[in-house]
Amino acid sequence: MPAEIMPAVGVVGWRCVVCSITVDIADAMVFRCPNATADDPYHTLQIVQHDEAVRRVSGDSNPFVAYQPYFAWDSFAAALGMTEPERRALVVELDAAIAVIAGTGFVTTPFTRVDSLSDVLGFTAEGGVWVKDETHQVAGSHKARHLFSTLLQLLVAESFGRTPWGSRIGERRALAIASCGNAALAASTLAAAVQWPIQVFVPPSANPAVLARLVELGATITMCPRRPHDPAGDPCVLRYREAVAAGAIPFSVQGTENAWCLDGGRSIGWEMASQALDRVFVQVGGGAFARCVIGGLAQAVGGNGNVLPKLHAVQTQSCAPLARAWRRALDGPGGLATAGARWRDCMTPWETEGHSAADGILDDETYDWLGIVNGMAASGGSPVVSPESDVLLANQLARANTSVVASYTGTAGLAGLLTYRAEVRDHERVAVIFSGIRR
Ligand SMILES: Cc1ncc(COP(=O)(O)O)c(C=O)c1O
Ligand SMILES: [Zn+2]
Repeated sequence: MPAEIMPAVGVVGWRCVVCSITVDIADAMVFRCPNATADDPYHTLQIVQHDEAVRRVSGDSNPFVAYQPYFAWDSFAAALGMTEPERRALVVELDAAIAVIAGTGFVTTPFTRVDSLSDVLGFTAEGGVWVKDETHQVAGSHKARHLFSTLLQLLVAESFGRTPWGSRIGERRALAIASCGNAALAASTLAAAVQWPIQVFVPPSANPAVLARLVELGATITMCPRRPHDPAGDPCVLRYREAVAAGAIPFSVQGTENAWCLDGGRSIGWEMASQALDRVFVQVGGGAFARCVIGGLAQAVGGNGNVLPKLHAVQTQSCAPLARAWRRALDGPGGLATAGARWRDCMTPWETEGHSAADGILDDETYDWLGIVNGMAASGGSPVVSPESDVLLANQLARANTSVVASYTGTAGLAGLLTYRAEVRDHERVAVIFSGIRR
């Protein structure tokens, strides 16, 4: 597209946080840094946005409509020649198909101060706890936001013949994801809405209710016990990578495997920028969520007249590779500024198997750690490692003070606030996100 008709909003392309290579937004089917290899996977693309602060462009509840021109998928589609009405129509049409399967389409989720919880935790009227209730999102968690942008880019690429199978829908390659819970449900729901085959790689410990729903949605499930000669790391991710190497399409919620998941994930941060906040506590598993929350906030707070809240990334004591990486990055030569170049020394898989009621954040590796470390550094935040007692208490407080039906994983951000409460002043405005409906 000639420069003079480039929109002032939207996305320019991608840049690798580690090696700085750039990728044009018009390039289809780019999921990882082009310099990432099996021997040197230590790269991660991030979205390069026009400078303009992100703002709602309509009052539509669907964030993919309300913030449409700021999405990378939208800039990708525009670069390929789709008009704005065509792009919006694609979102609306797909959203309707998803609503048939999920019972809801995409919504802007509620974000309100919970007075009783704020009182219980000793905040003054000026401060308090704001809860973003993401349990009513498509498939019961924020995960569908990450995957909808991926699906939109795939469908656009396909309609322009920019996939390995051209536009021949019958020859589509299967989607692939490694997940035991909310991400697998979201991925399989979206795939079912467009009848796209999907392979889901799950651990033997997967929740039977989740597995039953995945079967109902038509997903192909592969159980992934650890094999005797497997290297360190999650066996589900290993099997998933083998499938992708054999041609499957990365449909995961890990920015290092599928950069397109970072696009839609930011919308939760854009929505949260409407409130003036001092801190946000985000539960961290693979890390895409917290990376997107802080990234989205950074892009949108200015447009709302607010400042960037401090990010606290929350993990449990039984599995805390991010806090360890943060410490190693701080202590190493050059400190946090050189963390990316020291990836292999800083982020290493957690050695022991984690056990926590918050079982959705036990990823042994925080794949998107670098974006979170940079987000904590930029905002003046820090990691928080919660004992199991706070994980349990957080869910109990959520039940007692809200009507949100969230899992232990989903309330683990609040556990972080409990653990860190002594460092937070009573007049501060603090946000947490309850995501992942209790099943
Ligand atoms: C409810 C909920 N919250 C938070 C997370 C953590 O997200 P991420 O793995 O992107 O860090 C998950 C991931 O499974 C989740 O299901
Ligand atoms: Zn790179």
